[in-house]
Amino acid sequence: MRPALGLLLSITAAALPAAAQKPGTLNPEVHPKLQWNSCSADGSCAKVQGELTIDDNWRWVHDAKGYTNCYSDGRWDSRICTTEANCTANCVVEGANRDDYRYGYGVNSTGDTVSLRLWTGRDFSSNVNSRLFLLESEDKYQTFTLAGNEVAFDVDLGSVECGINAALYFVGMEADGGKKRFPDNEAGAKYGTGYCDASCPMSLRFVGGKTNSEGWRPDEYGSGGQGYYGACCPEFALWNGNAHSSLMASRNCVMDNYRVCEAAECGVYSDSRFPTCDSWGCRYNAFQMGAPDFYGKNKTLNTLQKFTVVTRFDAQSGNVTRFYIQDGKKIELPFPTWEGLPQQNAITEDVCIKSPEVFDEGPAFVNVGGWQRHRSVLNQPLVLVMSISTNYWDYNANIDSTYPDWDPWQTAPPGKSNGPCYWEDGRPEDVQARYRNAKVVWSNIRFGPIGSTVKV
Ligand SMILES: *[C@@H]1O[C@H](CO)[C@@H](O)[C@H](O)[C@H]1NC(C)=O
Ligand SMILES: *[C@@H]1O[C@H](CO)[C@@H](O)[C@H](O)[C@H]1NC(C)=O
Ligand SMILES: *[C@@H]1O[C@H](CO)[C@@H](O)[C@H](O)[C@H]1NC(C)=O
Ligand SMILES: *[C@@H]1O[C@H](CO)[C@@H](O)[C@H](O)[C@H]1NC(C)=O
Repeated sequence: MRPALGLLLSITAAALPAAAQKPGTLNPEVHPKLQWNSCSADGSCAKVQGELTIDDNWRWVHDAKGYTNCYSDGRWDSRICTTEANCTANCVVEGANRDDYRYGYGVNSTGDTVSLRLWTGRDFSSNVNSRLFLLESEDKYQTFTLAGNEVAFDVDLGSVECGINAALYFVGMEADGGKKRFPDNEAGAKYGTGYCDASCPMSLRFVGGKTNSEGWRPDEYGSGGQGYYGACCPEFALWNGNAHSSLMASRNCVMDNYRVCEAAECGVYSDSRFPTCDSWGCRYNAFQMGAPDFYGKNKTLNTLQKFTVVTRFDAQSGNVTRFYIQDGKKIELPFPTWEGLPQQNAITEDVCIKSPEVFDEGPAFVNVGGWQRHRSVLNQPLVLVMSISTNYWDYNANIDSTYPDWDPWQTAPPGKSNGPCYWEDGRPEDVQARYRNAKVVWSNIRFGPIGSTVKV
């Protein structure tokens, strides 16, 4: 029987890949589970069964027709990815199973506890860093509106050394990973798509559902790189830190949600940083505020032992207050000691306006909309991110160290020192080799109205 030509043609047409960020079919995605607590005004908390997914930037991206990597060692394969359009059409984002999470990415969750390892070796490959998102269901991120609420979590980061950032934070990602807004994105939240933050990262392999492959430049080291596009959105950094220093920060953007930026607009290719977002943000870091003896190994808050971090978001004022619990004792954040700073141990409008002046930093916070923007971000749904990472761009010196101009920290002017680490010690290759066992353990995440999550 002679096949009908029309039928053949339509089969061929259907087999042509559509230009879209698609999921792979070789390895089913199996999300690790993570319980958290949703608390009520009466102080009772209910367990919520959540799931975690790893950011697509860590996933295997390969030729839809087989096993060939589209991307490896910092480079896109030019045979598969000539243009952004055919790269997006030809490549898929693969799923990860339980063993991939545990032995490949170094993510281990049980009950309400999850640990993230800086470095994980398996067979002949290794993984460095990771970034995970909390989901409410298989293909939708859990979102939180912070205003009027508080967040509590326990953290054990005694092995997280200088140059490493263990982070737990909220960003203005789309709850579906951008599937609806960017029809090119067919993978969605299930595959960890749609990351953005206030640094408008250009290191993302997918932006707005398309590969960021055209104009991609590999990093000097490691397996990353940077493309022409970046993804910006506001961020409330509940926690950036390690065993030596930590901070919380309100990092806002001119808009509320995910936005694709291009080249100079993302703030990397030029000095005339278009102020889409304030990537440093209004920060509260006890060390930087002039209280170097508060946080660290064997200090007032002893990072050699687990502790609880409680953060309150006052709906009326927008003020963000913080206290810790360790060994059953409540430990308040210390007050700033530098002259000219308000006597407020919180993120407040006064602190956010005054500290850049006293620290000689420039008005980025005000330029992207100031306190109004901060308050607006606290009133919108945000996605919860957990990560562990080294940083090729600034060695994480913005968290724990002093930039070369001011080293050593004891002589640095107000605000120029963020922690007691030497900036040279944050070099990623060194950190990854020296601290192979660095691991952060997050547990017992609680969310609810102010006063509902802890009893002290
Ligand atoms: C991608 O598109 C370019 C330009 O149209 C073409 O030259 C190239 O052969 C295509 N590559 C693949 C792998 O489809
Ligand atoms: C994962 O965590 C469990 C429970 O804490 C532990 O028994 C197990 O050894 C861990 N596995 C890995 C690979 O770290
Ligand atoms: C912390 O204190 C304990 C007990 O006094 C001591 O054994 C340990 O060496 C100290 N560690 C550091 C890093 O200071
Ligand atoms: C919020 O912070 C401001 C300083 O910017 C302070 O005057 C006010 O009392 C604080 N409000 C609350 C409720 O803490």
